[in-house]
Amino acid sequence: MKRGVRTPAPSNEQLAGGGLQRRVEALLARMTLEEKVGQLAQYSVGTPTGPGTGRSDYETLVRAGAVGSMLNVVGAQETNRYQRIALEQSRLKIPLLFGFDVIHGYRTTMPIPLGMAASFDPALVEQAMHLAATEAAAEGIRWVFSPMVDIARDPRWGRVAEGSGEDPFLGAAMARAYVRGYQGPSLSESTSVAASVKHFAAYGGAEAGRDYNTVDMSEVSLRQTYLPPYQAAIEAGSATLMSAFNTLNGVPATANAHLLTDILRGEWGFNGFVVSDWTAVAELRNHGIALDGPSAALKALSAGVDMDMESHLYAPELPRLVREGKLSQAVVDKAVRRVLRVKFALGLFEHPYVDEKVAAYVATPEKRELARRLAEESIVLLENKGGVLPLSPGRKVALVGPLADAPVDMLGTWNGKGDPRDVVTLRAALEHRLRGTPGALRHARGTEVLSADSSGFAEAVAAARASDVVIAALGEDTNMSGEAASRTRIELPGNQLQLLEALAATGKPVVLIVFSGRPLALTEAQRQVAALVQAWQPGIEAGPALANLLWGDVDFSARLPITFPRSLGQVPLYYNHLNTGRPAGQTDLTRPASNGVEKYVSRYLDERNTPLYPFGHGLSYTSFDFSPPQPSAPSLQARAVREQRGEVLRVKTQVRNAGARPGTVVAQLYLRILGTSLAQPVRQLVGFQRVTLAPGESRELEFPLGFQELSFFDARATRVVEPGTRYELWVGDSSEATRHASFTME
Ligand code: BGC
Repeated sequence: MKRGVRTPAPSNEQLAGGGLQRRVEALLARMTLEEKVGQLAQYSVGTPTGPGTGRSDYETLVRAGAVGSMLNVVGAQETNRYQRIALEQSRLKIPLLFGFDVIHGYRTTMPIPLGMAASFDPALVEQAMHLAATEAAAEGIRWVFSPMVDIARDPRWGRVAEGSGEDPFLGAAMARAYVRGYQGPSLSESTSVAASVKHFAAYGGAEAGRDYNTVDMSEVSLRQTYLPPYQAAIEAGSATLMSAFNTLNGVPATANAHLLTDILRGEWGFNGFVVSDWTAVAELRNHGIALDGPSAALKALSAGVDMDMESHLYAPELPRLVREGKLSQAVVDKAVRRVLRVKFALGLFEHPYVDEKVAAYVATPEKRELARRLAEESIVLLENKGGVLPLSPGRKVALVGPLADAPVDMLGTWNGKGDPRDVVTLRAALEHRLRGTPGALRHARGTEVLSADSSGFAEAVAAARASDVVIAALGEDTNMSGEAASRTRIELPGNQLQLLEALAATGKPVVLIVFSGRPLALTEAQRQVAALVQAWQPGIEAGPALANLLWGDVDFSARLPITFPRSLGQVPLYYNHLNTGRPAGQTDLTRPASNGVEKYVSRYLDERNTPLYPFGHGLSYTSFDFSPPQPSAPSLQARAVREQRGEVLRVKTQVRNAGARPGTVVAQLYLRILGTSLAQPVRQLVGFQRVTLAPGESRELEFPLGFQELSFFDARATRVVEPGTRYELWVGDSSEATRHASFTME
């Protein structure tokens, strides 16, 4: 086993199991070439999630055994209907596998993934994704196209909403949580669904944040920053993987043998199957590496893409290529085996149907409780000037803004079968909370999300004047983030900033709640407000979660999983950057560059280098202090670190709740390695823990570090620990943590 690959997870083991192999071989031996290739074809039936291909003969295809999987079929009756055709009318009676984009809930919509990542609470995310799996599986959907673990450093890219942000360590923790939640202890459980980690690889590195765009990066960056979350998902047992749309160093990910065969199977020991992204096989022609459909199919399959999503190329082309002697039947067989293994492991042959007589969905109190807890843990308090929050009872509130009462916009991108009617908006929650006190709540929309019309401002300003505090619910609508939703302007859209200015001009304190699927540039907005809350798109319990936080029934505990820039010109801006030879130090614009003091350093003339809010930042109603980190040894032997499995160093710290209220802190441990053969980031997250403490309470925390955390990739893109290096550690509650210690590697 290669170093770094932990014990194979249950489903990866299951997929390699002997019993399963025998069943696969027995079936394979009975299949015609067309039937084999049929298993490698996936069609979207239902509402398309990509460019349409205009086919409607799906029943005929299923009857002919020419379909292995369908996506976008929803509802128990529909999945059963197609399944019945496969099992009653096709020759070999191989069950269909139904896939769907279950991304942050199926019926019970949780916060968007970027929000869930802000919880730094993988255990809760796992629980939520298990609920999603249960709901999807009940309708016959046994395969979800999630987790999306693409590291993203560019808020222009709309798909930052779908991932866990910019950090590989947090991303890996979240990746594992999703996979465990979906797949449960065994794929064969009726409540388990197969995960599909995506989009392999480095899709989030799209140039200029434009979706589907080119990705070009060194093998070292790829391995150090982008690959860890995919690898974590594979190690957690993800049964499938989706290849990405983009090119990586010139080779489209969907024809990339280096990724799909060498790394994925060779290094990581993946036993599941690979599905292309939507029409990504056909797009090899647009990339210019395939001349026509047959060569696209040949390149994708040969590189390791087992199933063709929606390109309609494998089914017609692969048999022809085999007959012409351009493709070996053994390559086809290998892909078919992988697909069948997953179908057997899911127990589809034994239990192909689902019960159609289940009661209609109800967002039960238990489901709401889970959604609310996750929303509460995902909403970040960025600013609280003068302690305007928590709001005290009896204060009269003006609730303003286009997102105060916008159910659809609380669901966020890829909301599955989420239903806006299940959403409790902020307005509904405040009406409930402040009921019984006449005049306690005034509501005015003020403007729309994307509008130049200011005719609603007057009403909003009047409401503000008549109240003690203004809550402004502003930001993006659901369609402004997600796939194909890149933006070149990341301030508050439309005239929302002007509305905010008009509200602030009343002199009433303004609490700004930003709903968005990406970090917005909030520099101007921040100046206007007393408090700033980043709510992402929080899901069905948006309103109750926010109300609990704003009035302090629950403390804010979320931390940013992605940097918030001051302005778009700084992008890409991320905490784990290299230092450069001319770092700008504490550059601030009050010391003009022209005075010669700090001219020749890496900086802008018109903006600071620092973000508006750094990675890991988030306030609470109390405050915490940390003792300096204490490594368990002042020095380590590089050779021992290389050879020893598991923990090699333990870092301790004492955290204390220094305030007067109970609260939860996300303790974060960062590391920098100096003296290395390759420059290393100024900081890297290597550990985090959520800790809840009563006022005055302290706790000793321990962070175990092993080879994985202490190593880095050298110029040959190999994980190494180098002797003669120095390790700097910081502990605290953001990436700007200051409590420091160091140790050496001998
Ligand atoms: C997206 C994937 C998604 C697939 C199926 C594609 O356009 O990139 O993330 O899983 O469609 O809907």
